Amino acid sequence: MRLSPAFATAIPTNLGEFLAVLGTGERGFSGANLSAHADLRTYVQRLEQEANGVDIPAAFVPMSTFWLLDDRDQLIGMSRLRHRLNERLRFKGGHIGFYVAPTARRRRAGSHLLRETLVQANALGIAQVLLTTDRDNLAAQGLIERHGGVAEDRTGVRDPELGTMFLRYWITLSGASKSARFAHHL
Ligand SMILES: CC(C)(COP(=O)(O)OP(=O)(O)OC[C@H]1O[C@@H](n2cnc3c(N)ncnc32)[C@H](O)[C@@H]1OP(=O)(O)O)[C@@H](O)C(=O)NCCC(=O)NCCS
Repeated sequence: MRLSPAFATAIPTNLGEFLAVLGTGERGFSGANLSAHADLRTYVQRLEQEANGVDIPAAFVPMSTFWLLDDRDQLIGMSRLRHRLNERLRFKGGHIGFYVAPTARRRRAGSHLLRETLVQANALGIAQVLLTTDRDNLAAQGLIERHGGVAEDRTGVRDPELGTMFLRYWITLSGASKSARFAHHL
């Protein structure tokens, strides 16, 4: 398995299928809204713009998207790293969102994806990473806690729009980046 910035590698041959399964999203990890793009190439170009903060709405922040590829370069997971928080993300959304295709779950892909995305957050100089998950999303909570996530409190916070409860986790990074492999792409 390896992590790659979405636009720094050949478009994975199963990208369309992967995004079709993701659909409108799952558990707060939103879909790709492909109807807004002419084709997959345009979508990936848009991801590069987002990472560089080009043409993004005022209410958005620069965001990098990473692919998790298996040994055959098939896309099995995806993460999004917000370079900083704004007021909305500081409440819900946080710095990192992650998703593993259902057929690839429970084989440590999620672990690999979160660990490597945290390395990228560290390379960006983010010292305290905020992640938020639904209170009943035990898979994400297990994963975040394994990677050092500390919940602000276990009762959680109510999403005023959805009425559901979510937890807010912080992960403290060392600050001493060992891998800035992709930093020039960010
Ligand atoms: C959360 C998610 C990424 C986990 O991916 P994964 O590849 O299955 O994760 P891993 O195999 O690396 O699991 C690592 C650990 O996480 C926990 N975990 C994973 N799935 C779990 C589940 N269904 N129930 C409870 N714990 C779970 C466990 O501690 C697991 O270790 P174990 O396998 O030894 O029990 C995946 O379920 C997913 O994409 N969910 C939908 C999107 C989402 O919830 N994103 C997070 C919020 S943005």
